[in-house]
Amino acid sequence: MQVTEARRTATPLPAPIGAEITGIDVASSPSESDYEFMRDALHKYSVIVLRGQDITPQQQQEFASHFGELRTSFYNRYGVADVPALSIVSNLKREDGEHIGIADAGMLWHTDGSYLKTPDMYTVLYGLQIPHRDGKALGDTVFSSAWGAYDALPDDVKQVIDGRPAVHSFTAHIEKKRAKGQLKRAPLTAQQRDALPDVEHPIVRRHPVNGRKCLFVTEGHTSQIVGLPEKEGAELLDFLTEHVKKPEFHYRHTWRKGDLIVWDNCAVQHLAVFDYGDIPRRLHRAGIAGPVPV
Ligand SMILES: [Fe+2]
Repeated sequence: MQVTEARRTATPLPAPIGAEITGIDVASSPSESDYEFMRDALHKYSVIVLRGQDITPQQQQEFASHFGELRTSFYNRYGVADVPALSIVSNLKREDGEHIGIADAGMLWHTDGSYLKTPDMYTVLYGLQIPHRDGKALGDTVFSSAWGAYDALPDDVKQVIDGRPAVHSFTAHIEKKRAKGQLKRAPLTAQQRDALPDVEHPIVRRHPVNGRKCLFVTEGHTSQIVGLPEKEGAELLDFLTEHVKKPEFHYRHTWRKGDLIVWDNCAVQHLAVFDYGDIPRRLHRAGIAGPVPV
């Protein structure tokens, strides 16, 4: 009797990064071989997209756990009840006027958790409610290739940044957001600030799985380059964070309800597009812990 294996495919998206995975239904408990296929595709394409998934929060958490150690958000007041690894990303409000989830995530280019000693390695985001206007989906997520951006840098810039650290600061990030009028959450408490001291990471980090060199400074969280005069360092940081914004490195994801995306925070930076105002939007995210960047 012939045994036919379910057909799985990873089709590159029309962009320098990203692939759509088909043939895997997350609600029907994918096999370990399916997960190996997805992890391989993730390390090859940096972002993987599974469309049309109909899953519970528990199933999303279980899915995410196959990519590594789950991290609980320190913003756990936006957690999903009884599913500790998931946080709500949403502009919806409760009756008391409080947001039900993080409402201002990703307004600046960033990688998740870069302000931690061990930044998030991967992020799993699931679309439950996608805003539309005039039939067009809003709230896209834009990804930029951190290795594509590094590869395209001029050699003299590579020489300055290779082996040099930069400071990532959650406190500076919150201040930057406040200055831009983008802050939609309570200011940090002294306790939160103490729990998140500034950290140094290499400006160029090696991908722990595929060895690619990735540019690891971001508009959102990098506050300064170490070891350069202040003006020179600020100009270089500006140049690098603008470089990442070039569309030639991008994949722009337009969400549909049921989209399940995994991205590699070493290999890409990302940006949330806030073009939907108060039109309801709800996504659930899980973060997977990573190693110390080297
Ligand atoms: Fe993010």
